[in-house]
Amino acid sequence: MEYRKVIIDQLYQALEETLTTDEIAGLLEIPKNSDHGDVAFPCFVLAKQFRQAPQKIAEELASKIKDPSIDAVKAIGPYVNFSLNRDIFAELVFLEMLEKGHAYGDWEIGEGRHVPIDMSSPNIAKPMSMGHLRSTVIGNAIANLMAKTGYAPVKINHLGDWGTQFGKLIVAYKKWGSEEAVKADPISELLRLYVKFHEEAETNEELDEEGRHWFKELEDGNQEAHDLWEWFKNESLKEFNRVYHLLGIEFDSYHGEAFYNDKMSEVVDLLEEKGLLTNNRGADIVDLEKYGLNPALIRKSDGATLYITRDLAAAIYRKRTYDFAQSLYVVGNEQANHFRQLKAVLKEMGYDWSDDMHHIPFGLITLNGKKLSTRKGKVVLLEKVLGEAVSLAKDQIEAKNPDLANKEEVASAVGIGAVVFHDLKNDRLNNFDFSLAEVVQFEGETGPYVQYTHARAKSILRKAEKLTVGSKDIVLNDDYSWAVVRLLEKYPETVKLASEKFEPSVIAKYTIALAQAFNKYYANSRILEEDDALYARLQLVQHTASVLKDGLKLLGVKAPNEM
Ligand code: ARG
Repeated sequence: MEYRKVIIDQLYQALEETLTTDEIAGLLEIPKNSDHGDVAFPCFVLAKQFRQAPQKIAEELASKIKDPSIDAVKAIGPYVNFSLNRDIFAELVFLEMLEKGHAYGDWEIGEGRHVPIDMSSPNIAKPMSMGHLRSTVIGNAIANLMAKTGYAPVKINHLGDWGTQFGKLIVAYKKWGSEEAVKADPISELLRLYVKFHEEAETNEELDEEGRHWFKELEDGNQEAHDLWEWFKNESLKEFNRVYHLLGIEFDSYHGEAFYNDKMSEVVDLLEEKGLLTNNRGADIVDLEKYGLNPALIRKSDGATLYITRDLAAAIYRKRTYDFAQSLYVVGNEQANHFRQLKAVLKEMGYDWSDDMHHIPFGLITLNGKKLSTRKGKVVLLEKVLGEAVSLAKDQIEAKNPDLANKEEVASAVGIGAVVFHDLKNDRLNNFDFSLAEVVQFEGETGPYVQYTHARAKSILRKAEKLTVGSKDIVLNDDYSWAVVRLLEKYPETVKLASEKFEPSVIAKYTIALAQAFNKYYANSRILEEDDALYARLQLVQHTASVLKDGLKLLGVKAPNEM
């Protein structure tokens, strides 16, 4: 940060205020070829004003600039190129990090305003899917990023606890289920019933009708239906909470779809008042042709409400409750159209704050190349996957460090961390195939690799406690440490970018780059030597450890001190 200010000030003066400091800041580049220096200023924009070739301007500017923190200023073609003084640069970066401590990389952009984040939101009576796992970990990381940039995130689990599927489930339970079977293994049994319903419905057309009937009963407050629903919901929540506990993720609200049951009539009334509802064969719809979208179906001919009706009520409720700066929905890309419709209906209602609602989509996970489908019973049980990841991590620890004290705890941090990191390391819209063996590797671009690098840095610092540190001058001018220092300096900017783009992968990729740069430095230098530069080297190690830890924490991944 600081070094940019120096360069900007120098250019500002040399240009005799032709450009503002902000304009200069916007023009600075990082040269692709590192032999050309660390920062470059292109002179094209000045050519007109100065009536001179940009090459000439670059030369003139270069000759005017002098500062102790800049080692060399050279004109290379139309660019002024700056080589920074590495020691001074490192000293400035370290000073800032020491001063800010854990707050290094924090921003105050959000001014404490609320950002509800709709995340995880699995469906009751079904196993939590890989897609819900993605929503959970991406949503959690985005919540951490929002907090780090000064917002007040509100993590909302918009449980899928209402809808026609409950009518179907009630029918299936009454036909083929039993209390004992559900009690013995709730989610598997409910899934079996759900799958059976869909199989039977292929040949028996009356089943769907019965399902709709029972959902209507549920909506109208039929006691039997309500009790079954509540029971299924409680059993499901128990299972979901086990997964959340493993992931170490908590929610601020569990208001799911059912919570909006008594809030939908207001929405329908409002739509009616504003003349937005049209009747289409008994059903109420909102026409969205001017948005290039299909009409939104708000109420069926039997009076039953829909997914989008509940989302309308939820959006309005969230605006009233949180007066949000932004309202985020971390939901698979396959629901993109739903969120377009949702925003369009709100816009039609005159709610301009719908512009602050953002669908944050993500890609699909396949398993061994195949799509997963709950309807067909093709599911992965997340608890099992997470358990297997932990046991694979444990094998690795046994092989590498059998004497480690708290093996169980570390194995869980590494196994779970591996799954989470793997999910977050690619652009969220990418689809990917899940292979457990690949996820838990200690080498390559994995969570365990970053965790291992953090633990290595911590172990160096423990060994250093016995040494005597002499001079506190910062002397670091080899290429390996320089690469690390430059990355450390980039952390705050990286946090800001990740938060603006709602893209945790920016942080994951950064931690990999920092871990790689640090490991190169480690392989090429003797850190624990009692000489004049020991303090500087230890500073580098300490700051690397703390940024790796903070980056992992943003992702929702733990950083054990030893592994
Ligand atoms: N329960 C839905 C599903 O599993 C996701 C809900 C997303 N959130 C929302 N407000 N629509 O597909």
